[in-house]
Amino acid sequence: MSLIDDVNREKLPSHIAIIMDGNGRWAKQKGKPRIFGHQNGAHAVRQTIEGAAELGVKYLTLYAFSAENWKRPKIEVEALMTLLVSTIDEELKNLIDNNIHFQVIGNTNLLPDSVKRKVNTAISKTKHCSGMTLTLALSYGSRWEILDAAKKLADDAIQGKIVPQELTDEVFASYLNTAHMPDPELLIRTSGELRLSNFLLWQMAYTELYFTEVLWPDFSKEELYKAIVSFQHRERRFGKTTEQL
Ligand code: IPE
Ligand code: IPE
Ligand code: MG
Repeated sequence: MSLIDDVNREKLPSHIAIIMDGNGRWAKQKGKPRIFGHQNGAHAVRQTIEGAAELGVKYLTLYAFSAENWKRPKIEVEALMTLLVSTIDEELKNLIDNNIHFQVIGNTNLLPDSVKRKVNTAISKTKHCSGMTLTLALSYGSRWEILDAAKKLADDAIQGKIVPQELTDEVFASYLNTAHMPDPELLIRTSGELRLSNFLLWQMAYTELYFTEVLWPDFSKEELYKAIVSFQHRERRFGKTTEQL
């Protein structure tokens, strides 16, 4: 029996964000090099995108490479970049066929040209797609994003385009990479680590957090349903009392 029957389609989280963690440990358990884990993570990515789109989730954001991941050994970084290029290549047709709009957040200037090119192709070829929005966080760090927003805001203030007293949550959020997207309602992190690792710090002020011991390459549609069902059993109070809801 599939857990899909337990998912309430009327109460889906509109935006799910995922920290895809545990590839290295998955490979190590099998006596293989870390990159073997990354390669096998691609299958879980496909399953997750498909599962979310089939359910009707509007936004799916995947943390694929953090600003801090640049500090990993050069050979691993290079392998990850190569894998990114081939995965985007292999998935592009699927994205278009499934009406999935692709975009990227993060400091993409730092990416090698080969990745930039693939990313730009995928963005332009899915521009017209009006189904789920799939966002890849690449070379992404939340503090970098918030600082970058602050710099742009300061610039606009100097130019008289914005008055500091008129700055609101919404205006600030419009300077972030995630402008035009709702905040995630559900965050999933695999591999048992209980931290956010510099992911969407502003946007996750009221996100429901779901942690699972499952390592990313073992993540599946069923694991996605499990997380959504857990989300649907929670009471989101946003500071209010139960009686007020
Ligand atoms: C997540 O898996 C993938 C990336 C961060 C790129 P890890 O590579 O972090 O795997 P572990 O955490 O070492 O097991
Ligand atoms: C977070 O995983 C980044 C991604 C999944 C892309 P890490 O494995 O890099 O996180 P830390 O360093 O253990 O917190
Ligand atoms: Mg990790």
